[in-house]
Amino acid sequence: MYLPRSLPLWLLILSAHTLTVQLDSISSNCQNVCNILESEFGPTALHYYGQDNFTIWDAKQLEVQYACRFEPSNKTEVAAALRVLADTWCNFAVKCGGHSRDPDFSNSVGGVTIDLRRLNGVEVAMNGSVARVGGGAVTADVYSALDARNLSFVGGRVGSVGVGGFATGGGTSPLSSRHGWALDNIYEYELVLPNATSVTVNEHQHSELYWALRGAGGGNFGIITSFVIRTFPQGPIYAGRRTWNDTYTDQVADEVYDLYTGQDHNTQVSADFYYGYVQAEDIFTPTVNLRYFDPMNTTGSPPAFASIDRIPAATFSGQISSLGNITGPGRIPATPPPQRHLFQTTTAFPSREWLQGSLQIFREEVEDIKSVEGLNPQIITYTIPSRAIQGMADRGGNALNLSNVQGPLFITLLSTAWLREEDDVLVGDFYDRLFSRLEDASRRLNVYHPYKYVGYARLGEDIFSSYGADNREKLVQIQESVDRKGIFTSSGLCRGGFKLR
Ligand SMILES: Cc1cc2nc3c(=O)[nH]c(=O)nc-3n(C[C@H](O)[C@H](O)[C@H](O)COP(=O)(O)OP(=O)(O)OC[C@H]3O[C@@H](n4cnc5c(N)ncnc54)[C@H](O)[C@@H]3O)c2cc1C
Ligand SMILES: *[C@@H]1O[C@H](CO)[C@@H](O)[C@H](O)[C@H]1NC(C)=O
Ligand SMILES: *[C@@H]1O[C@H](CO)[C@@H](O)[C@H](O)[C@H]1NC(C)=O
Ligand SMILES: *[C@@H]1O[C@H](CO)[C@@H](O)[C@H](O)[C@H]1NC(C)=O
Ligand SMILES: *[C@@H]1O[C@H](CO)[C@@H](O)[C@H](O)[C@H]1NC(C)=O
Ligand SMILES: *[C@@H]1O[C@H](CO)[C@@H](O)[C@H](O)[C@H]1NC(C)=O
Ligand SMILES: *[C@@H]1O[C@H](CO)[C@@H](O)[C@H](O)[C@H]1NC(C)=O
Ligand SMILES: *[C@@H]1O[C@H](CO)[C@@H](O)[C@H](O)[C@H]1NC(C)=O
Ligand SMILES: *[C@@H]1O[C@H](CO)[C@@H](O)[C@H](O)[C@H]1NC(C)=O
Ligand SMILES: *[C@@H]1O[C@H](CO)[C@@H](O)[C@H](O)[C@H]1NC(C)=O
Repeated sequence: MYLPRSLPLWLLILSAHTLTVQLDSISSNCQNVCNILESEFGPTALHYYGQDNFTIWDAKQLEVQYACRFEPSNKTEVAAALRVLADTWCNFAVKCGGHSRDPDFSNSVGGVTIDLRRLNGVEVAMNGSVARVGGGAVTADVYSALDARNLSFVGGRVGSVGVGGFATGGGTSPLSSRHGWALDNIYEYELVLPNATSVTVNEHQHSELYWALRGAGGGNFGIITSFVIRTFPQGPIYAGRRTWNDTYTDQVADEVYDLYTGQDHNTQVSADFYYGYVQAEDIFTPTVNLRYFDPMNTTGSPPAFASIDRIPAATFSGQISSLGNITGPGRIPATPPPQRHLFQTTTAFPSREWLQGSLQIFREEVEDIKSVEGLNPQIITYTIPSRAIQGMADRGGNALNLSNVQGPLFITLLSTAWLREEDDVLVGDFYDRLFSRLEDASRRLNVYHPYKYVGYARLGEDIFSSYGADNREKLVQIQESVDRKGIFTSSGLCRGGFKLR
């Protein structure tokens, strides 16, 4: 740091103090990078904290003070930015849909946020079987481009979720019972490596990276500027949603279990089960989303859902619609104001007793945090269908180590929203207690499975060990081989996210 020697001592102390405060949040290295990027790519590509309309899904990420936010418009600009960042040694984060729950995952603490939002193009091949999708595209961009051609892809349940985070970690989709997980439906990646060179990664070129990118999540191997994804014919689907009053919870859970196990091989059917606490009314409610892919009727629920439909619902909606319309818009809504969120996940082999028990544990543990302001906890369980597990062996396999498992598996996500920072610890303790009880229960019933889905994971969990010791080791070696300087590691420049090292 430069300070003129002639300054009086008191001013020196004052300046040093002011500078230290600034340096804590934004380094002069990063300020330099922002200046360089602005002079190279123009003022419209750069945005500064405090003068920016930036929104991101989670309040903890929204509170982050970045030096600047850069919006590259193509892969050359992504590579150029990465080169400047590495040469200047300024920390950064990469953002696609911005649905992460922790600072530095996709909004940089004091560094540069590389916001890929402009890389949202979708180009569909003439023959309709593949599309090239920008590394910053969100689910809705892709569904809407494909819906118009009666095509679809293995996308998410919510339009604003980024393909970048979703597809690199796993990608469980309403269409997974027919087409598998998103990561097994990607033919090719265009990747800017840590040394700022752009490469094509597929089954034949950089095949080790192709394997590693399928499961390790974003932020370990570089920046993906585009994906070549599989697309397929798909018309409008049946989408039903039912909620019940808590009286029926056991019955609903029973029917959900029967549907998850009995219809596992039915490639028309998909369902998601939510059990939540509604603070305003102090009640618990079960909700089920039902999907049927090729409905013959324009009205009416398909026969596959007859038994669950018989339980008297408090609310019901059913429609035949496109995936784009069902999953909603791509922009994160400006209102309501962002809330704080925590996700954590566990995996189990199918068990009726465990499914029922998980709801009981949830009810008991929620008792202790009912006073948390704005509390909205949901325990969500759906399957990894057998079809999706089989697909995990396609094109050389992926990093998850699930392809030999006898399916289906149950994947459970605890998703909680709340309002105030003061309650972070309370919510964290609630998660600790709840997951320790859930996993004790699954072990006791002999249905525990170690796999943790990175897209639903909580910071601090050892995700990659859940892929098996050998797979973890192989991932670390691949990471080291492309990133000798450790730029995409927890002690490097791109520090947020689930890191291999
Ligand atoms: C409301 C909601 C609904 C969800 N629904 C589903 C669902 O239906 N199915 C499912 O499987 N998951 C779902 N998820 C989980 C979601 O897939 C993960 O949270 C995912 O990481 C979000 O990706 P993103 O691009 O939106 O987030 P971001 O925070 O932008 O990215 C996540 C991580 O990936 C990195 N990354 C993103 N893009 C790139 C890129 N192009 N190159 C390199 N690194 C990149 C980021 O740096 C970051 O570390 C949901 C999450 C939320 C909050
Ligand atoms: C913020 O958004 C508003 C409305 O979209 C726009 O008019 C304004 O120019 C934006 N400001 C900045 C700093 O981007
Ligand atoms: C990327 O965008 C820049 C403008 O910043 C343009 O000059 C360049 O030609 C573009 N490169 C590619 C490969 O499209
Ligand atoms: C469809 O077109 C793409 C891109 O042109 C090509 O790679 C792919 O092999 C084609 N697929 C079929 C089934 O013809
Ligand atoms: C999509 O399918 C509908 C219904 O079958 C048909 O009317 C429409 O023309 C199709 N659109 C395209 C672009 O093929
Ligand atoms: C729940 O349903 C039962 C049976 O229909 C009914 O008696 C009870 O009043 C309902 N409770 C609420 C809170 O709606
Ligand atoms: C069509 O809907 C009716 C009633 O809504 C139902 O009885 C019938 O089984 C449905 N047929 C198909 C093929 O989904
Ligand atoms: C999707 O929404 C658009 C706009 O509201 C509408 O025109 C279209 O018909 C809808 N598609 C389906 C299949 O419902
Ligand atoms: C995959 O998981 C199994 C069972 O947990 C474990 O024994 C095996 O070592 C793992 N394989 C790899 C390649 O990590
Ligand atoms: C960049 O890294 C890749 C992967 O390690 C390597 O193959 C390539 O030679 C490197 N390029 C340059 C210009 O250093």
